[in-house]
Amino acid sequence: MNKKVKQIISLMAVFGCVAIASTSCGKKDKNSPGVEFMPDMYRSPSLETNMAYVTIENGVETGDTLQANRLPVEGTIPRGFMPYPYANDTSGYANAGRYLRNPFPSNAANLAQGEDLYKKFCVHCHGETGGADGLVAAKLSGAPPSYTGPVLMALPEGKMFHSIYYGKGIMGSHSSQVSKAEIWKIILHIQKLQHPNGVVAAAPVTDSVAAAPVTPAHK
Ligand code: HEC
Repeated sequence: MNKKVKQIISLMAVFGCVAIASTSCGKKDKNSPGVEFMPDMYRSPSLETNMAYVTIENGVETGDTLQANRLPVEGTIPRGFMPYPYANDTSGYANAGRYLRNPFPSNAANLAQGEDLYKKFCVHCHGETGGADGLVAAKLSGAPPSYTGPVLMALPEGKMFHSIYYGKGIMGSHSSQVSKAEIWKIILHIQKLQHPNGVVAAAPVTDSVAAAPVTPAHK
């Protein structure tokens, strides 16, 4: 490299430094951050999930909408989720009693888990032995029925599930506190309270809402 070229390069370097120094310093507004590279990165639009936003330009709606992500198609369910098939009405209740059966066997592990959950979520109203003598039950305007009374002794397990899942009367829904599997395990514990000798009768046909006449499917 000859001397002249070297001189030109160093001159360019000096000019470059002066140029950078004069743009970065000497601003009138000391608080200005200067030129922003990709301002979207500094001031990103904070969109809420599943919210549609109307875009307005100069005070007029442009007709475009902004959306972080689309709403799922109606009827979409999460992967692996099994919807509960019975509606929260009288016929759903009746059908749950008729067709819904506990898929969990009454073994020591399931009973122990059921008892533990019962003591956390139900005991304050239904009482330790299911006699509706929990501390909260005394304060309720309508006390829960006893598990060993005639009404609940005749209640099929499917209806128990339905009432625990959706709630009934002043008992709220427990579907957000306990999973479907957990409800079934609690039911095993209730049945143990009802039948301390271990004999659970076959699903009866009457219920606590209405003793609807049942026509046998086969004669
Ligand atoms: C706030 C008090 C309260 C709590 C907590 C509560 N229950 Fe109840 N439960 C009631 C009352 C009151 C009824 C009577 C509802 C009616 O028939 O109007 C009832 C009814 C029931 C029935 C009979 C349903 C039917 O179809 O007749 C079952 C089974 C039952 N509860 C189980 C449970 C289980 C299991 C839990 C805990 C996961 C629980 N309950 C928590 C107050 C409660």
